Amino acid sequence: MLKELIETNITRKLIPKGLSWFGCMGGLSLVAFMVQVVTGIFLVFHFIPAEKEALPSIQNVIHNVPYGWLIHRFHAVGPNIMVGMVFSHMLRILFKRIYRHPRELHWVSGACLLLLTLFMFYTGSLVSVGYITGHTPMRLVYIYAIHIAGIPMIMGSFMGMHFFMVRTTGIYEQL
Ligand code: HEM
Repeated sequence: MLKELIETNITRKLIPKGLSWFGCMGGLSLVAFMVQVVTGIFLVFHFIPAEKEALPSIQNVIHNVPYGWLIHRFHAVGPNIMVGMVFSHMLRILFKRIYRHPRELHWVSGACLLLLTLFMFYTGSLVSVGYITGHTPMRLVYIYAIHIAGIPMIMGSFMGMHFFMVRTTGIYEQL
């Protein structure tokens, strides 16, 4: 059962000839998002979102937790790569005019995902500015809550809709 599932969905699926990097950017955006989720969950176990304890808690992750420095680095560099991927994905859709009927709502849900990705980037930056300088526009714990729970929940539901729509219409260029 499991063997058959893996074979039909992974090992027996061949990469078609002529598949471009641009054509992979939607899937790669999802992979980048998953990397952020997994590394973020790891950081949640160690980070203390209080003005005085935040910086020492991050220093503890970097210096004392096994591979903490690596996971922290991944979580900090990943968003730059993800934003680039989401933009490339959008540009392909735009230049190939894939947004036209019947894919208008794919485009709208995608545009919301782009905004949410940028909002994640912004709140994540505010959290790091908060623990480095001790100054944030509102209390660190509120920004942190928006960053780790508020936006990801909304993003998860928009992704669900985005993928459901893609499954319904099928992809534009058949593999
Ligand atoms: C976190 C952000 C995003 C993720 C994870 C994501 C993921 C995906 C995936 C996996 C696909 C199916 C494979 C493909 O055609 O590439 C797809 C298709 C699509 N996406 Fe996105 N996407 C995101 C953002 C966007 C944005 C910003 C737009 C445009 C404003 C967009 C518009 C579309 C459209 C129109 C399709 C259908 C393409 C087709 O039928 O071939 N997406 N997306």
